[in-house]
Amino acid sequence: MSEVRYGLVGAGYFGLAIGRALLKLPSASISYVFDPNNSAKAALDLGAREASSIEDLCSSDDVDAVIVASPNWAHAEAAIAAAGHGKHVFCEKPIALNYADCERMIAASSDAGVVFMAGHAMNFMSGVRRAKALIADGAIGDVVFTRAVRNNWEGVQGDVTWKKRRDLSGGHLYHHIHELDFVQSIMGPAVVATMTGGNVAHQGAGSGDEDDLLLMTLEFGNNTFAALEYGSAFRWPEHYVLIEGTQGAIRIDLQDTGVELRTPESTETFLLHRTLEEDEDRTAFYNRGAVDGGVLFGNPSIEPPLWLCGVIEEELAYFHGLMCGGAAVAEFSALTDGTAAAASIATADALSLSLREGRKVLVSEITGRGLLSRSRS
Ligand SMILES: NC(=O)c1ccc[n+]([C@@H]2O[C@H](COP(=O)([O-])OP(=O)(O)OC[C@H]3O[C@@H](n4cnc5c(N)ncnc54)[C@H](O)[C@@H]3O)[C@@H](O)[C@H]2O)c1
Repeated sequence: MSEVRYGLVGAGYFGLAIGRALLKLPSASISYVFDPNNSAKAALDLGAREASSIEDLCSSDDVDAVIVASPNWAHAEAAIAAAGHGKHVFCEKPIALNYADCERMIAASSDAGVVFMAGHAMNFMSGVRRAKALIADGAIGDVVFTRAVRNNWEGVQGDVTWKKRRDLSGGHLYHHIHELDFVQSIMGPAVVATMTGGNVAHQGAGSGDEDDLLLMTLEFGNNTFAALEYGSAFRWPEHYVLIEGTQGAIRIDLQDTGVELRTPESTETFLLHRTLEEDEDRTAFYNRGAVDGGVLFGNPSIEPPLWLCGVIEEELAYFHGLMCGGAAVAEFSALTDGTAAAASIATADALSLSLREGRKVLVSEITGRGLLSRSRS
């Protein structure tokens, strides 16, 4: 393709940031925008036309690929419509709020022979890529345990946005699926999932209905395990992933930003993002409490911080490269056919079932004989 023409579905805080990142790339343009509330300004800012509906946008001959950056509950409809019209899809995370929708989205893309890339941005942080390469090279031996913690405090809100409603966002676990996806990218798909927790500090006016304290364990077989904590009921904020191997460990700190590799012989530190400036920007962002339970990540009038713009640039450059005929990189293959995203949602569904029923859940209870079991056989 000499020029790739994008259609943007959802032009709020993140959709606009993606649009701006795309326009910095060579041979990329945005022909249409659809957003029930923010189309006119977005179209003006991005040099695009307003579409009257998702169908209108996806059926246009002037659209080669569709970016889905609408609220989480609305992703499936747009991604399936795009694939149905033979358009490649980049879909923000979480791609869907249940595994059945993931299956429908992936089936639509694979039937149409189009790329379906999940916006799991953490995979494009340079320090995460380096950590994964080190682990793959055996730098910490065999991985036996991973701990992912994404805890902070969220105050009472003036408006309760869709991000704080369980039915619209999926709640903390689905909305912040990044760490769960990361854990499975290292350890493989979980076999057994257990979760406890609840809404301990956010009831009443100005609060949503999502659970604000979630404690999870995952079992992968072969004596390998993970523990995850998510939520906005924690006055002591923590955001990190720790990977423990038989020969060493790696800690990815997403708050006091940076990555550290420890082995009995040595300690090595490296950046999480592309530059020291981006890492320092992230640390300052967390230090001033700007994370605020993810609420601030949802205001179309503000731009994402420097480090997040950098990650968006990296992942969209990769997607755009594929659209231009560039070679696929093995490291990202499970991201560009939807399987990593579907595996994350399958495990999130199993964890949710565990919480509801107060028992350990096999992830195969969710996937059944579906997509994941077929792709593994
Ligand atoms: N990867 C990341 O780090 C990251 C960060 C922030 C947001 N996101 C994801 O990006 C997506 C958008 O989040 P946001 O922060 O921009 O939220 P937002 O609320 O700022 O924007 C959502 C936009 O979608 C529009 N919209 C509502 N219903 C729609 C529909 N049916 N079809 C199309 N558009 C619709 C809204 O009018 C709004 O402008 C979400 O899926 C979110 O999870 C990802």
